[in-house]
Amino acid sequence: MSPWRVICPAKVNLGLHVVGRRSDGYHEIVTIYQAIDLCDVLLGEAAEALSLEVSDTSIPSGESNLVVKAARLLQARCETARAKGARLRLDKSIPAGAGLGGGSSDAAGALLLLNQLWTLHLDSSSLKSLAAELGSDVPFFLFGGTALGTGRGATIDPLPPLAHRVVLLGSPPFGLSTPEVYRALQAPLTADRADVTVPRLFVKFAEGNDFALARNDLEAAAFRLRGELATFRDALSRSGAEVALVSGSGSTVFGLFSTGTDVTSKAVDLRGEFPGWTLRVCQTVASGVRIVPAVG
Ligand code: C5P
Repeated sequence: MSPWRVICPAKVNLGLHVVGRRSDGYHEIVTIYQAIDLCDVLLGEAAEALSLEVSDTSIPSGESNLVVKAARLLQARCETARAKGARLRLDKSIPAGAGLGGGSSDAAGALLLLNQLWTLHLDSSSLKSLAAELGSDVPFFLFGGTALGTGRGATIDPLPPLAHRVVLLGSPPFGLSTPEVYRALQAPLTADRADVTVPRLFVKFAEGNDFALARNDLEAAAFRLRGELATFRDALSRSGAEVALVSGSGSTVFGLFSTGTDVTSKAVDLRGEFPGWTLRVCQTVASGVRIVPAVG
C-alpha cells in the first residue's frame, strides 16, 4: 500500500463568544475559525501494528495523542479497520497548548489518512461526526478556510473566504490548558444567552471583514491566568494590527495585517521586547487538511 502524507494547518479564532453553559459540561460558543499556513505534516504507511512517532519528543506519542485516538476510534467503529495497522510519523510545527488547534488538525488529518490507507470508504458526513467525537475543534479542519463554529464549536458552516491577510503569531514559552481557561471564566452564563441572532451577526462581520466587533470571551480568563498575554496583545495592537486577540483559549496571541504590511519588521521589534516568545509570520489559507500521495 503506497504511503500518504497529510498537511494539517493551524487555525486562529477571529472572534469567540461564549454564549452559555451546556448540560454536558461544555460551553455553547459562536466563533469564526480561520485556517493559516502554519502546518504539521502527518505521514503514514501500512504496517502490521499501529505506531506513531512524533518529531517533537515533548509531545506524547502514545494512546493520549489525538492521532492515535483517531485511529482507535476508526478501529472501534469500522469492522474492516479492526485488524489494520499503520506506521505514522507526525512532524510538528504547530506548538501545543497554544490555541492554534494543532492536535485537532492532526486528528482530522489522521481520519483522512487512515480512511485512505485502510480503504474504509467513509463519506464526509461520517468523517465529520467522528471528528466531533475527537474534539470540539476537529471538524473545522475537514473544511478549513473561514468557517462559523457553533454549539461546542463542532458545528461548522463554511463562510466566504476572508480577503487574504498576514497573521503575526506570538507564542509565549508556556501553553494554556483549555479546560482550565474555561473554568476560569467568571462572566455569569446561562444557556438562554445562546441567541440565534449571534451567529447571524458573526456572518455579517465575516462577510464585511469588519473586525471592530471582534472579541474573544476567553481572553479575560486567559489574561487572569497569565497577565503577560495582555501586555503582548496591547503591544500588537499598537503595532498597527487590524485586530489583536488571543486565539481560542490561548496561549498564542495573534494580529491580522492587510497584505503588503511589513510584518517581518514588526515581528523583529516584538521579539526584542518579549524575549522567550516565538514570533511567526503566517498567511490565511482557504484549505483545511489535505491528503497527497507521499513520494520519495
Ligand atoms: O472538545 P475538546 O476536547 O477540545 O474540549 C476540551 C475541554 O475544553 C472540554 O473538556 C471542556 O472543559 C472545555 N470546552 C468547553 N466548551 C467548549 C469547548 C471546550 O467547556 N465549547
